[in-house]
Amino acid sequence: MQQIQYPLSIFLIGATGDLAKKKILKALYKLYTDQLLPDIFSITGNARRQMSQQEFQQFVKDIVQPDDEQRWQAFCQHLDYVSGDASQLSTFEKIKAHHQQKAGQNHCGNHIWYLATLPRLYTSVVHNLRQTGLHQSDCGWTKIMLEKPFGTDLATSQQLNQELTQVFSEDQIYRIDHYLAKETVQNVLVFRFANGIFEHLWSNRYVDHFQLTASETLGVGGRGEFYDGTGTVRDFIQNHVLQMIATTLMEEPQSLQPDEIRDKRRDLLHALQPVSLEKMSQLSAWGQYGPGQVDGQDVPGYTQEEDVPDGSRTETAIAFKSFVDNERWQGVPLYVRAGKRLAETTTEISVVFKETSNQMFCDDNCPEQANVLTLRVQPNEGVIIRFQVKQPGVTLNIQEVPMEFRYHNQFQMDLIEAYVKLIYDAAHGDPTLFPRSDGIEASWQFVQPFLDHQADDQFRPELYPAGSWGPGSFGNLIGRDNRDWIKPL
Ligand SMILES: NC(=O)c1ccc[n+]([C@@H]2O[C@H](COP(=O)([O-])OP(=O)(O)OC[C@H]3O[C@@H](n4cnc5c(N)ncnc54)[C@H](OP(=O)(O)O)[C@@H]3O)[C@@H](O)[C@H]2O)c1
Repeated sequence: MQQIQYPLSIFLIGATGDLAKKKILKALYKLYTDQLLPDIFSITGNARRQMSQQEFQQFVKDIVQPDDEQRWQAFCQHLDYVSGDASQLSTFEKIKAHHQQKAGQNHCGNHIWYLATLPRLYTSVVHNLRQTGLHQSDCGWTKIMLEKPFGTDLATSQQLNQELTQVFSEDQIYRIDHYLAKETVQNVLVFRFANGIFEHLWSNRYVDHFQLTASETLGVGGRGEFYDGTGTVRDFIQNHVLQMIATTLMEEPQSLQPDEIRDKRRDLLHALQPVSLEKMSQLSAWGQYGPGQVDGQDVPGYTQEEDVPDGSRTETAIAFKSFVDNERWQGVPLYVRAGKRLAETTTEISVVFKETSNQMFCDDNCPEQANVLTLRVQPNEGVIIRFQVKQPGVTLNIQEVPMEFRYHNQFQMDLIEAYVKLIYDAAHGDPTLFPRSDGIEASWQFVQPFLDHQADDQFRPELYPAGSWGPGSFGNLIGRDNRDWIKPL
């Protein structure tokens, strides 16, 4: 990895928020400790909360929990804070004046505006950057990084994109979907295209179907208000799930050029068949968690969670079936299930291969989950192949066994955090792992019928006990095709 060019100024709007605390500030410190930030850099936080520079430094210290005081002292010199409402022009005038005064001649250089704040503020922030001239720099580049969601449906996504591109050129914009930067998702390309043994099998000739499970045992916690206006389709399917599908099923790019890969992801999303309103009940199932048990503890149902209104019809889980309308995948179904308060926390994509034409070793009692290749995204990341073997013994009994590659066994190092990679790549001008606007619009097009279905007065998600694998309709969705959900390993 190369050090980022200097001087670099990072402006973090929403510096006191949940995401900044959980991910971004830790990622910035990691970049520093790995000596990937330039010698001359600054990180300026912004939020409405009043804080002095010292208070912000202490705030960040409490989050990153440094283990080396000397190194921390060197880092914290670079931290600054300007409070103010980001929807107000005056806040950006204040940030500009403050930065010019503090950084002196180093105020000029490369700038990243990282928007980790409420999406409804994006338009005014972009407008304010334009008005203050902060959208460009005379002596370096300026980039803008934005957190999802990019709109709440196709129309608002297009609107946001229009507003963004009036101020920034496409190569200045880095839209974040951190799933693309997960080590295991990045590895999908290498796994597929560097290994003929797998890529040659990657078609409807050999693949029976795909399954994607993205489940978590957690509920909405303290984010009830946010979640109730969002739901699983907007929070998870439109972005993370579709980007993982696009990466796994896309055509082979001719090179590693970022736009070549982004084109292929976009093309796959265009080829993914939306579930039509007429077939919604046949091809999708919707759930909302009721009270149940997770890890042996009683947990409340969704509508008993803080800030969730009684009678909410928001889905907390969904399962659906779709197809990819292209030559490679014609006729191969894709089953997806995702949601909260499900039985396990796991994200994995399974490729289920066709059975051999002659099932001579077993009739009705063939192992159900053999013949499967699983790309395990998290946790316990890796690749697992399940196949059948003869059990040792005098009789011919067949058993399913796994063959596993797990990152933590193979590499004696922590996987790089997605946010470290994203900030590093954005600073180096590599947009490969950032969805482009056309890809995002294609994904909104795919989920739009889901949103229309939800908006119907008759729509009611089915209750499922927290800690289960969702309502019975999830099983029926795949069971109708004489298939079953793969059990995570
Ligand atoms: N949290 C996650 O796990 C997660 C994951 C993926 C993506 N995201 C995305 O990341 C973004 C931030 O999410 P979050 O969960 O961190 O939200 P959050 O906890 O509500 O934080 C919002 C941040 O924005 C600041 N803010 C709010 N209104 C402001 C204003 N008018 N002017 C300046 N600052 C303002 C808040 O501080 P003040 O109230 O003091 O102003 C706070 O620092 C959202 O786009 C979200 O969808 C979050």
